[in-house]
Amino acid sequence: MARRRSWKAPALAQGEKLGARRAAPQLSELGIAGDLGAVAHYVDPAYYTKTYRSRTEDVYYYVNEALASGGPVLEYGVGNGRIALPMARAGIDVTGIDLSAPMLDSLRTQLKDEAKDVRGRIELRRGDMRRVKLKRRFPLVIASFNTVLHLYERQDMERFLACVHHHLTPKGRFVFDFSMPHPADLCLDPDKAYGAPRIRHPTTGELTRYAERFVYDPLRQVLLVNMDFMPEGKSPSFTVPLTHRQYFPAEMEALLHYNGFRDIDFRGDFSDKALDEDVESLIVSCRPQRGYRP
Ligand SMILES: C[S@@+](CC[C@H](N)C(=O)[O-])C[C@H]1O[C@@H](n2cnc3c(N)ncnc32)[C@H](O)[C@@H]1O
Repeated sequence: MARRRSWKAPALAQGEKLGARRAAPQLSELGIAGDLGAVAHYVDPAYYTKTYRSRTEDVYYYVNEALASGGPVLEYGVGNGRIALPMARAGIDVTGIDLSAPMLDSLRTQLKDEAKDVRGRIELRRGDMRRVKLKRRFPLVIASFNTVLHLYERQDMERFLACVHHHLTPKGRFVFDFSMPHPADLCLDPDKAYGAPRIRHPTTGELTRYAERFVYDPLRQVLLVNMDFMPEGKSPSFTVPLTHRQYFPAEMEALLHYNGFRDIDFRGDFSDKALDEDVESLIVSCRPQRGYRP
């Protein structure tokens, strides 16, 4: 089992510039919705876009789901539109909610280059997925690419699922995905840095060495990934923390069941293949229980 240790590296928060230094937070402060570990990874949308540009299977999956539903779609954690933009280009109206101002600004900037009809299909709202209530209902609500892993406590998940209920039509579906927790990934040595190939950082423009360190809190089921950036030029080194709640499949099924969802179906890795223990992403589809009041 990994040894836990206190935080040492400087970290980047929402609104801070790359390379800025700040006081080191304690591990116990991380894994709270809206805190550093839930926002820092989304401060730099150019880096986010570059890092995940080859992740396309989930984009096709959600666009197909959106087309099958006919729309409109509500996307929680819309980010800078990796899924929302292709949905809008496919003719689907999308409402996107996100906490991160930089990610939403990045999506608004991209929209300026889109055709007028595509621009008109995306509506954005900055807010917390546990709180925002719109006066509309949707046949499809989605939360892609681990957005739900930013719900750290049972109450966070319960508030969020109540909001999903509020926005779903009676026959609507909620579809989301999250990384399967693999025990081997949760007991990595927290003192070991796992290096990756150098990158040209899209924001600083500098060749940058990159490594990740993993710290798992087995009681709160929160995994902290410290992403260390070490530019080879003049910029200072910096660390970006990312905290993800680890939801085990049966735990997620129970949360959905006891929070008013039915027809709960799990698939793996954005394909029709049967679930097996090696699956990386779990894709969940469910419907609201009839008459359920959160
Ligand atoms: C991994 S990104 C997914 C972005 C986009 N859907 C995609 O697939 O690329 C997770 C998103 O959830 C947002 N987020 C995290 N906590 C949130 C909260 N409490 N309320 C709303 N959005 C939140 C982040 O700002 C981020 O944009």
